[in-house]
Amino acid sequence: MKTYIIGNWKMNFTVGEASLFLHKLLQKVHSYRDIEVVVAPSLVALQSLSLQTDRRKIKLAAQNFYHRDFGAYTGEVSIAQLRSLVDYVIVGHSERRYIFHETDKDIRAKVAASLRDGLTPILCIGETESERTFGETADVLRDQLLGGLQDVSAEDLSKVIIAYEPVWAISGHGKAAKVASPLDVKDAFTLIRKILKETYGKDTASETSLLFGGSVKSINAESYLRLVDCNGLLIGGASLIAPEFTDIIEIAKRVKDDRA
Ligand code: PGA
Repeated sequence: MKTYIIGNWKMNFTVGEASLFLHKLLQKVHSYRDIEVVVAPSLVALQSLSLQTDRRKIKLAAQNFYHRDFGAYTGEVSIAQLRSLVDYVIVGHSERRYIFHETDKDIRAKVAASLRDGLTPILCIGETESERTFGETADVLRDQLLGGLQDVSAEDLSKVIIAYEPVWAISGHGKAAKVASPLDVKDAFTLIRKILKETYGKDTASETSLLFGGSVKSINAESYLRLVDCNGLLIGGASLIAPEFTDIIEIAKRVKDDRA
């Protein structure tokens, strides 16, 4: 299985800045067969970056889209419109769930739409700080996982990537920031695999890629990548700093080689 290093640029960079940044990355990133590097720029930059990028080195993801293909949906962008520009789509990110009130029903429709149109959905799930405090983590992960996957067949499950992103550990870049320990992540991965196994069977579940996201930087990336169940990282803040992002790619390659 490949290791995924995915940078979520969120609402950062103008189109010009995004292009310059991608140019910098393309100069530094090596193309490795077993490491898949993906960045998710703002929607407005996707068209030009899709022409600029070298897909052998860096593929593109969309941060958001609407599940219908065409029609009277002012302000929305569909998978059909994105299909020639990106290979991946992020679905169910906590910022979409909590700031833009996306529900599991919306998320399920997006997962199904992306599979229908041949793009790989990166389904994000994760508990908030209060859910964790009240001991609800397992229930939340189960609800979000099965909620998002409800219309996904066993055959299609291998085309879905799951990202565990505890909401309390996202954007933790200040001094008092909370960071998930590798043990926290391991527990969540074990639970996610267990739910997938119960739902889809052992073989199918073991083929699903699990990523971690939440304040990943070059100093802690290795501790997550070394987890047996970890197939990669979803990186926000640190993906906006070229040396950080490229260091994490090299760390992923080293861990992969050690495992081979
Ligand atoms: P962060 O963001 O790395 O800045 O915590 C991760 C994410 O939101 O995907």
